[in-house]
Amino acid sequence: MSLADGSHVSDTEVTTAPRPLLLADGRPAARAWSLDPALRHLNHGSFGAVPLAAQERQNELRTEMEGAPVVWFPELPRRLAATRVGLAGFLGADPGDLALVPNASAGMSVVYANLERRRGGEIVVTDHGYGAVTMGAERLARRWGGRVRTARVPLDADEERAYEAVMAEVGEGTDLLVIDQITSATARRLPVERIGAEARRRGVPLLVDGAHAPGLIDTPLADLTCDFWAGNLHKWACAPRGTAALVARGPLRDGLYPLIDSWGAADPYPDRFDQQGTVDATHYLAAPTALDFIGATWGWPAARRYMDELAGYAERVVGAAFAALTGMDARVDVGMPVPGMRLVRLPEGLADSRVTADALRDRAAAELGVEAAFTAFGGVGYWRLSAHVYNTAEDYEYFAERCVPVLGEWARAARAQQHRTP
Ligand SMILES: Cc1ncc(COP(=O)(O)O)c(C=O)c1O
Repeated sequence: MSLADGSHVSDTEVTTAPRPLLLADGRPAARAWSLDPALRHLNHGSFGAVPLAAQERQNELRTEMEGAPVVWFPELPRRLAATRVGLAGFLGADPGDLALVPNASAGMSVVYANLERRRGGEIVVTDHGYGAVTMGAERLARRWGGRVRTARVPLDADEERAYEAVMAEVGEGTDLLVIDQITSATARRLPVERIGAEARRRGVPLLVDGAHAPGLIDTPLADLTCDFWAGNLHKWACAPRGTAALVARGPLRDGLYPLIDSWGAADPYPDRFDQQGTVDATHYLAAPTALDFIGATWGWPAARRYMDELAGYAERVVGAAFAALTGMDARVDVGMPVPGMRLVRLPEGLADSRVTADALRDRAAAELGVEAAFTAFGGVGYWRLSAHVYNTAEDYEYFAERCVPVLGEWARAARAQQHRTP
């Protein structure tokens, strides 16, 4: 297929689809989830999806809790400590460094709440940072009487350019670096390993936002030098919601306390996080069931390979459909790609900001029956696709055939509206 800008998408490229993954009994992988079959679920990355096996395990644990609360709660810290060991192995972390927190936001809030200003109160973030995490950094900088410095990393920056862009903002006044391992809106990696080594050399604490890393990257902490890392197990690892890890290494970790003061406060890090008042912690205890389900059914390396091949196929099929519609190449170079996620450029007029991108997500769900993620970066709108094991090539062919033409119509209408508006 020839495009208006002179580039070319080969038809063979478009037609190579990975074979759908099946369960041990031959049923489609999606049957192991409770996702509504009336919808297309093309956005695992935002909120995850929990396999039935882990939902059932959590229900069993809740039944146990409700059967004998007075036995359950005193026993809970011991059970959580044992769970941490398995989760740490999955992440490539030392169990002694890993605390359980309800989500990545909470992990980063713990760092923000406990870290003290030692130099100029400056916090370095990037323009790819997750909005809520960056807002937390801004509040902390205000509290410190400092400021946030934003490193501008071009979307297509390779490792060297991204590293240089971040380190150019680090100076004598820097008290904290907050860098994504995998970015949300732009679905790319940032060179946190290299940044971490240099930050440690300069004595600047690094907080890595690893929200998307567990499950998508094999042992995401294995080669990482950082003071703090927070990541969600309820995204790609498919754990029940409310399951995330805070990993702290280095001299500052003993100063970290949970956001909820509780009886564990006198315990050392990370044990003190195992007591959080009276809360339902069954999601943590059921998390290993999700990891084991995928591990035992396909193996994590094969699952990751499938997700990546499928994402590549989806990118080509949907990109070609948009290109046929607009005459423009919809492929996006993100510099340091991640497995399982891709960006496809939307026609002009759609999703030029986070607000309009979220509105498009809601409209697509309501009118097209598709759960999808749309993002904006630098005023340009993207379809951010996240493929998991329960997705199939047919999901994306459907999107290309049925949804792309409608999105094209919506884009035309939005452009016409913009021209009419004085
Ligand atoms: C990069 C990044 N950071 C942080 C978060 C926040 O995760 P949570 O809402 O589970 O705290 C997300 C969620 O999508 C994310 O993508």
